[in-house]
Amino acid sequence: MAARGGFSNRLGFIAAAAGSAVGLGNIWKFPYEVGENGGAAFLVIYLACAFLICLPIMLAETAIGRNTRLNPYGAFKKLGGRKWGMVGLMGVLSGVMILSFYNVVAGWAFGYFLQIGFGGMLSEGLNYDAHFGSFVSDIWDNLFYSIGFMVLTALIVAGGVQKGIERWTKILMPLLVIMIVGLICYGLTLEGASDGLAFYLVPDFNEINANTFYTALAQAFFSLSLGMGALITYGSYVGKNDSIVGAAALITIADISIAFLAGLMIFPLVFSQPGIETNAGPGLVFVALPGIFESMGSVGPFIGAIFFLLLCFAALTSTVSLLEVPVAYVTDQFKFHRKKTVYGVATVIFLIGLPTMLSQGASDFFTNFTFYGGKNIDFFTLIENVFSDLSLPLGGFFIAVFAAWKWRGKGFQKELYFGNPQLEGSITEKIILFMVRYISPLVVGTIFVISVLKIFFNINLF
Ligand code: PFF
Repeated sequence: MAARGGFSNRLGFIAAAAGSAVGLGNIWKFPYEVGENGGAAFLVIYLACAFLICLPIMLAETAIGRNTRLNPYGAFKKLGGRKWGMVGLMGVLSGVMILSFYNVVAGWAFGYFLQIGFGGMLSEGLNYDAHFGSFVSDIWDNLFYSIGFMVLTALIVAGGVQKGIERWTKILMPLLVIMIVGLICYGLTLEGASDGLAFYLVPDFNEINANTFYTALAQAFFSLSLGMGALITYGSYVGKNDSIVGAAALITIADISIAFLAGLMIFPLVFSQPGIETNAGPGLVFVALPGIFESMGSVGPFIGAIFFLLLCFAALTSTVSLLEVPVAYVTDQFKFHRKKTVYGVATVIFLIGLPTMLSQGASDFFTNFTFYGGKNIDFFTLIENVFSDLSLPLGGFFIAVFAAWKWRGKGFQKELYFGNPQLEGSITEKIILFMVRYISPLVVGTIFVISVLKIFFNINLF
């Protein structure tokens, strides 16, 4: 254990795993998905997916990591043999590909921090919608921002699990929450706030269709950093005296709460500004917030810069966990030197991200890269569909099936008892096992089929 490093205590693991979970997924992705998928109805399904389906899988994933103290590939191979190792390998690959696009979006947040704080962006009377469009297609600026972000990520991961990851999260996450709450209070004073709240909080169940389910489930996996072995990797650093069950519940609650608050922040702001639509897509946060900061007058640039800076930190604790997965894989399996591995892997992932960066208007080839589901698909969307929307739920399906059906009693259950002896024979244990055995695989498996049909063939089952 000492050689691999470990979290200093249970709170260290919770902070790091929550840091991994809370990121762009909560503040950038969740609000625009709510906006595109019917508002409050999406929120309801999302909450159900997170607590009923994903939380049990999170227990299984963390337990596998702590039991084996290995990376996802090594862990599955050790417990289940070579074939199961493939599930771990799929997770490592997903981590690589997710980080390749995540780093680009983190670069956008970094760019907005610099432009608002130091570039006078808010004083130019811009149309922020148009500005975002030209911003993401400016390849040179984006190169600079995303290189900067990847270097920061690599430096922290090279610093080691305990020193690097834990420390940052504990300080910066509370600050982000305070900032979001402040913006919620401000938003609620604006005209249009009540329409925004109604859109976000009053469900219209006519809005629900196949899309809602698969987007909500995929988002829950992405937001909880679940299904690709990030939590196997972090779980591998957790001590035997710590309760996995309590930790997983706390991480889920923290993550969901911050996503919920982000929605509460965004929608009143969207409805208070004419010309901004709830279905603005991936640009939503970048379009809705600057106008609000501008309306704050002379403090606007300061507040805006701090907001995007904190968003960068939230993204950083997530990129760190994404990079940690392939790094743990390479160092465990091939016994490579950790620091060199960190820089090597980070460089490769950065290069893989270049087409994503070019796919937002800079290069026509990558912007109209392929065609499926009835529309042109850019490179970014393709990678996101395959390695996040589909791969994470699929990974989660296998994790649940593996823990409940193959590893089972002596393995999975016993691992949950460590640090939590009262679990043995309790009703909580029965519920957990029932969910991991039946409900999670069944629901995830069904929604996976719905997703493939919808994404690639544009077939709506309902
Ligand atoms: N959970 C992160 C977010 O919501 O921003 C994204 C993420 C991090 C996904 C780590 C997967 C992962 F392993």
